[in-house]
Amino acid sequence: MLVHNEFKNHEDISVLDAQNHIHPWHSMGVDDPNYMVARRANGIFIYDDAGNKFIDGPGGMWSTQIGYGRQEMADAISKQVLNLPFNNPWSSTSKPSALLAAKLSAEAPGDLNNVFFTTGGSTAVDTAIRFAWFYNNVMGRPEKKAIIARHKGYHGSTFLSSSVSGKERDKSFMDLGNGWVHFLSNVNSFLRPDGMDVATWCDQRIEEFELMVLDVGPDRVAIFIAEPVLASGGVIIPPEGYHARCLEICKKYDIIYISDEVVTGFGRLGEFFASKSVFGIEPDIITVAKGITSGYVPLGGVLISDRLMNDIRSEDNKNIMFSNGFTYSAHPVSCAAALKNIEIMEREDLFAHVKEISPYFQKRLQDLRRSKIVGDVRGIGLLGCIEGIVSSEINEQKQLRIDREFGMRIDEKCENKGLIVRPLINMCVLSPPLIIQRDEIDQMFDILESSLDEVAAEML
Ligand SMILES: Cc1ncc(COP(=O)(O)O)c(C=O)c1O
Repeated sequence: MLVHNEFKNHEDISVLDAQNHIHPWHSMGVDDPNYMVARRANGIFIYDDAGNKFIDGPGGMWSTQIGYGRQEMADAISKQVLNLPFNNPWSSTSKPSALLAAKLSAEAPGDLNNVFFTTGGSTAVDTAIRFAWFYNNVMGRPEKKAIIARHKGYHGSTFLSSSVSGKERDKSFMDLGNGWVHFLSNVNSFLRPDGMDVATWCDQRIEEFELMVLDVGPDRVAIFIAEPVLASGGVIIPPEGYHARCLEICKKYDIIYISDEVVTGFGRLGEFFASKSVFGIEPDIITVAKGITSGYVPLGGVLISDRLMNDIRSEDNKNIMFSNGFTYSAHPVSCAAALKNIEIMEREDLFAHVKEISPYFQKRLQDLRRSKIVGDVRGIGLLGCIEGIVSSEINEQKQLRIDREFGMRIDEKCENKGLIVRPLINMCVLSPPLIIQRDEIDQMFDILESSLDEVAAEML
């Protein structure tokens, strides 16, 4: 066993990592995957320990909006570290956190003018749910607690946020809250029966939602939580009008609509927030993270409407506290990084760039349908997903093994050619840095095309 002070060369990093480091979604097999040792990154590229260069297809984890290696970010972060590396958010505030809260409120749809900062997306979702429950308690209706979430949704990895996530395969062997979360079926219109049009499919999904509310009981349903685009579930874009109709149901039955914009915010779809600008809704709460700092440092946030806040703010309630918070809430370094990140995106007009370049990205994505091993491709803005189709085994375990095999092979082949794709079982999701240029999009899809051809030859 290697110990940390015996570290001599960079090969030892992999050894130490395999010995001592548990990664997210860590496999319990004895043959640990050999994780790439990322050494440095610049623009849309990551370099490994051996000096190999890769296009970062997933853009970190749907997060690296402005690309890597920005001197201005390093300067803003180091300046804040030297000036004020921490302040106690219980008893003080800082200029970056106050400025950032004001900026987010100004950009948010409707009256979402109240910002609570968290440490990432999961803690943002946790906080949003805890706030909605707290709200109903203060409003004198403690029985209104049920949550309606969606199959294939992903909202995080804390107990609460994982309990409202609807990716079945992530739930095995894990304990989750149950009884108070109800899942709507997959909204992906690709799954509709032969001969059914998308509008009818959408009607059915809406009807299912309303029936679920009525079944659970409108006075028991507190929350509807939805990503505008189900990202980790495989970039599932709900049918036209779906979100607006869900919001109508929420309004009808006094249900708090949480729009989880952890992926769709900060320009991924060419807008600051997608809820209103892309999908036409003003939700009650929006959660954010990832692209808010382009992943340079951790930060998340919850934007809450004036309506909700004003309902429970009163002289009579002055002794009631929303007892939720983290040592690193509103961390001044993270907030300074977010302000600089937003400044860069605005100065470089990155959202306009996304609007201009994404039709080409989507065209190259759609062209992948030509591959025999591709079942479906989906995308919007600079988000894309390729879903492999190798067989449709009845046996769930066998199907899972074949699906994983597809993902692993694509991953390996793309990586050998200089592209990171991060497979999700039988899907590859793409969300490159927003700064990506047309020739780089071509490089990405050329690699994908040839890798898909090779995997098709091997597996079909
Ligand atoms: C929509 C959505 N919500 C929440 C999360 C959780 O964010 P984090 O990993 O920062 O906790 C994610 C992460 O991928 C996400 O995609």
